[in-house]
Amino acid sequence: MFVCENIAVGADGRLSFAGQSVRALAEEYGTPLYLMDEDRIRHNCRVYLDAFRRCFRTGSMPLYASKANSFRRIYQIMAEEGMGVDVVSAGEIYTAAQAGFDMANAYFHGNNKTPEDIAFSMEQGVGWIVIDCAGELEAVEAEAARRGIRQKALLRITPGIDPHTYEAVATGRVDSKFGTPIETGQAEALLIQTLQCPHIELTGFHCHVGSQVFGEDVFERTAEVMLRFMAEMRSRHGYTAQQLDLGGGYGVRYVDTDPALDIGAKIERVASTLKALCASLDYPEPLMLMEPGRSIVADAGMTVYRVGSVRKIPGFKNYISVDGGMTDNPRFALYGSRYSVLLEASPAEKGETAWDVVGRCCESGDILQPNVNLPEPNCGDLLAICTTGAYNYSMASNYNRIPRPPIVMLHGSQSSLAVKRETLEDLIRLDV
Ligand code: LLP
Repeated sequence: MFVCENIAVGADGRLSFAGQSVRALAEEYGTPLYLMDEDRIRHNCRVYLDAFRRCFRTGSMPLYASKANSFRRIYQIMAEEGMGVDVVSAGEIYTAAQAGFDMANAYFHGNNKTPEDIAFSMEQGVGWIVIDCAGELEAVEAEAARRGIRQKALLRITPGIDPHTYEAVATGRVDSKFGTPIETGQAEALLIQTLQCPHIELTGFHCHVGSQVFGEDVFERTAEVMLRFMAEMRSRHGYTAQQLDLGGGYGVRYVDTDPALDIGAKIERVASTLKALCASLDYPEPLMLMEPGRSIVADAGMTVYRVGSVRKIPGFKNYISVDGGMTDNPRFALYGSRYSVLLEASPAEKGETAWDVVGRCCESGDILQPNVNLPEPNCGDLLAICTTGAYNYSMASNYNRIPRPPIVMLHGSQSSLAVKRETLEDLIRLDV
């Protein structure tokens, strides 16, 4: 009935999430409020971990792409589950390290890592740097030489695959700002240059074609392009890659019309394509990496708001304004992303009227979700937006000097704060 199985109608007829009363949580922690279902996060990790154990060689590892949601507790959960992590900034590296995450299992990404970032990642003992382009290779070699170390690295290659997702998150095409393309010969040139770097230990290749990907065979096609490239590089330059990282991207269900992917089955199909190709190319099966972000945390999240003004403009539009908005979830404003919206008091009722659910920011683009059918709420009611665990908190801002909501983790029948609510004092902490 609901978009994810951790959403239900409780015995009192009201909304429950991860088996807990949303109303009780909102009363205890206030609104707006990010809820994270820790059991669901662990379940989602285990889907990948189990599939990796079944399908790939020992030593293969799923990495949580922590840009999807980055705060200390989440890195602890990843460490406990045996996941690696993908980090993309000094901020994510710092957060992971402060959480006690073993940085040897971290892979550092980014299309424009600054010299300071590179130095910081080495200082923190980040396991791998995923080198994006020739300029970066020189910077990594120079810093590793300065420190007298040999830095493990992957090369990020653009395989020239269009995953048919939305424009802002497609990254695998030749003209992408990320990675070095195969098609232009630049990937090969980068490999040759890397093999000449004495302070870089190249263990393999990385690619990432996009996010919120549902396409049937996108990962199989990507694996094929990458393996053919790898086989060619072996025959031309005698280099055999030990690792292949296929990036992240599996799509999640935001609304009823989105499919629910069976990720275990998807990985099995990627593995059988890979094995067949390795056999036909006589290439040793590489250790596999994937970098799921959204599919680890999205459906573990729910955002709870309190309804403020409810207004109808007859013949035009109806608005429900809530006490958050594009500051805690900019995804509709940025990508037109769809979400399922529920009233806490009557989650099963659809309602005749279509509403635009809008935030409290001073701009008309501050829409959380347009055109949702809901019963008419009263001021003070609670409203929930589902599947907000990915790219909401991590993309939140203080626009209009609105403090960011707290994150509350739900585990069994327990709840605990993982990130405190920002205060007004926090907002001026850096002002001089
Ligand atoms: N690996 C790399 C190199 C990536 O660039 C990304 C996402 C991932 C892994 C994780 O992809 P996922 O499994 O989460 O799809 N802010 C956008 C999403 C941007 C994704 C950027 N890269 C959104 O809210 O939809």
